[in-house]
Amino acid sequence: MAEYTVTPWEVSGKIDYEKLVKEFGTKPLTDSLVKRIEKQAGKSHLFLRRKIFFSHRDLDLVLDGFDKGQKFALYTGRGPSGHTHIGHLVPWLFTKYLQDAFNVELYFQLTDDEKFFVKDLTPEQTRDFAYENALDIIACGFDPKKTHIFLDTEYAKTLYGIASRVARKTTFSTARAVFGFSNETNLGLIFFPALQAAPCFLPSVLKGKNIPVLIPAAIDQDPYWRGIAREAAPKLGYPKPAQIHNTFLPGLGEGGKMSASDPRTAIYTTDDEKAVDKKVGNAFTGGQPNVAMQREKGGNPDICPVMHYFHFLFEEDDKKVEEQIQLCRSGKLLCGEHKKMLAEKVNAFLKKHRQKREKAKKQIEKFMLRD
Ligand code: TYM
Repeated sequence: MAEYTVTPWEVSGKIDYEKLVKEFGTKPLTDSLVKRIEKQAGKSHLFLRRKIFFSHRDLDLVLDGFDKGQKFALYTGRGPSGHTHIGHLVPWLFTKYLQDAFNVELYFQLTDDEKFFVKDLTPEQTRDFAYENALDIIACGFDPKKTHIFLDTEYAKTLYGIASRVARKTTFSTARAVFGFSNETNLGLIFFPALQAAPCFLPSVLKGKNIPVLIPAAIDQDPYWRGIAREAAPKLGYPKPAQIHNTFLPGLGEGGKMSASDPRTAIYTTDDEKAVDKKVGNAFTGGQPNVAMQREKGGNPDICPVMHYFHFLFEEDDKKVEEQIQLCRSGKLLCGEHKKMLAEKVNAFLKKHRQKREKAKKQIEKFMLRD
């Protein structure tokens, strides 16, 4: 059995990201690329410093073009199958940093059709979740003048034209090899990769000239770019879309990524303080079975989601992260204390996020793109 699985619809096991770079044929994000981004942004980002974004395709070409005056567009997305969890915010917060740094347009796809094809949800439910999720996207602080959010079902006239051209250049045998489709897969899902590829070329279509596209997303989405969009691009006369990939924020259980389908180990942006306290309180940790053993032997921060959350999102200060790791290993920090610190940080973050989310309700129309 494989040690791990990474596909757009399933992420499981203990992922070896270095191996994944080789398997997927991407490139590691080098220090010199990180420096180029940070220089343009005028500030560093903890996602870059801590290698949470770790891999890319053609980022160097996009940056070279930008240096010569060729603006690019950002593209990312969400499959609206439920409430947003804090793992989804990882690529979105980084996309916001990139938008600010490069002052570029962002196209944000909400694949309500995809989630109707793969989940036990009605089209009305996936549409409602799309609008719910859009509030979280807007709450990340994107520029309304430069950010365009669309639902596949509401922007279908434009998207279908592009998706058709992608589909025309993609055989079933390619799609099956990339996504593992079988005789039981419904036809909607078999066509769907062409729709997720379509926004890679949308800026070029809308502007009437070729615009390179850079996609920040976790590595689970890579098959769409590797197998479909980047194959179709030269055949259609468009630049191949570039990517920058992030690792997964783990769930609160033992191993595995945070996943919307496991409500006990996922923290949703809609969770209230009590829910957060409870979920964090019940989290798996790298600690010992009792206080005496913890004091004597220390904990294991490497396998601890509580530590990982500080590292991923909730502690800006690199020194403080290092300090927590040392305190954990030496047995000076108990899991109960660490969990309490985390719940406070998460609740403070979510309180602010919820305020921005409330405001987003009034702004949403400024962002929506429809035919
Ligand atoms: P979805 O809704 O599964 O995920 C939305 C975004 O969140 C990333 N992600 C995570 N990142 C860090 N930690 C996690 N635990 C975690 N779980 C998910 C995903 O990689 C994604 O970037 N089919 C897509 C929607 C889509 C899309 C796109 C995504 C359409 N076009 C372009 C990225 C780029 C989906 O269902 O994503």
